[in-house]
Amino acid sequence: MPIQIIRQDITKLSCDAIVNAAKKSLLGGGGVDGAIHKAAGKELLEECKTLGGCETGKAKITGAYNLPCKYVIHTVGPVWHGGIFGEEKKLASCYRESLLLAKEKGCETIAFPLISSGTYGYPKDKALKVAIDTISDFLLENDMFVYVVVFDKTAYQISEKLFTDIKSFIDDRYIEEHFPVPNMSARLRKEDYYSCDAPVAKASMPYGLENLLSEVDESFSQMLLRKIDEKGMTDSECYKKANIDRKLFSKIRNDVFYKPKKTTVIAFAVALELSLAETEEMLKKAGYALSHSNKFDIIIEYFITKGNYNIFEINEALFAFDQSLLGS
Ligand code: AR6
Repeated sequence: MPIQIIRQDITKLSCDAIVNAAKKSLLGGGGVDGAIHKAAGKELLEECKTLGGCETGKAKITGAYNLPCKYVIHTVGPVWHGGIFGEEKKLASCYRESLLLAKEKGCETIAFPLISSGTYGYPKDKALKVAIDTISDFLLENDMFVYVVVFDKTAYQISEKLFTDIKSFIDDRYIEEHFPVPNMSARLRKEDYYSCDAPVAKASMPYGLENLLSEVDESFSQMLLRKIDEKGMTDSECYKKANIDRKLFSKIRNDVFYKPKKTTVIAFAVALELSLAETEEMLKKAGYALSHSNKFDIIIEYFITKGNYNIFEINEALFAFDQSLLGS
């Protein structure tokens, strides 16, 4: 089951559990802790008083009272002291311990804030990486839907260098914006080449429609299953790496003519580590194409041509450029 990065106030989420970035006493504080206590009401503090505090890297669970979720999991992140005092290990432990507690309680959905990344000073990009790495490790063995909640846009900054690199990659290729096409024939040629999201062109009909339909090419679903076999992956390895929900994967598996969303196709192409040409082929099976008129497509092209198939890094970049994310 996938991870989804969202920009939200965590107290508004009605998933099974939300996680609180608490302090050792568990008696409330500022930041997300303050917001959770305020929204839950006084009874949350009363229950917290009975817990005897919590060590850094550990987690404890309570009811959620007036919040729209069932549980609050309180975890205590490390204070950032430059990264040489085991902060990363302790932060990873916060995510693991919280996920294990949620699993024990049978939670199917959980939402995390970026623990330690506020008052405790953990650099946000590093905090996000620990979150994503630890949660995705857990999801390899477990089924849960995990939201990583980033509160403000600045909380979600990909590194300056990556941002600049992607930006110049987009600028070089964003033909529409920078080089308006001078005449119709050139426009047609360009569109032929970058047939953005257009249905695959139909051949003229030498036979009857029935004959044509009997010669339908390999479908997206068939190509996906073939590629999974060729890459020696199991189904679950593939859909987990694609950040795709198991239910969606079975729909695709069981419906040879399943029409996926473009983001789903790309997610699978990334999971299968397809080359750019293979990605284009898979997109075409679903009736899509990559275009240079669209930032989303250029960012995907950037990562594939760099051989970087880390779906979470790709999603971070897409998020930074306000584009749709990959996966379910
Ligand atoms: N929803 C989602 N994220 C939020 C919200 C919200 N409503 N409010 C803040 N954040 P912090 P820490 C983000 O300081 O660094 C408390 O006083 C915020 O932008 O809440 O682990 C405790 O009592 C930031 O990215 O937690 C402790 O003493 C992230 O949540 C101490 O602060 C975490 O920021 C814990 O510090």
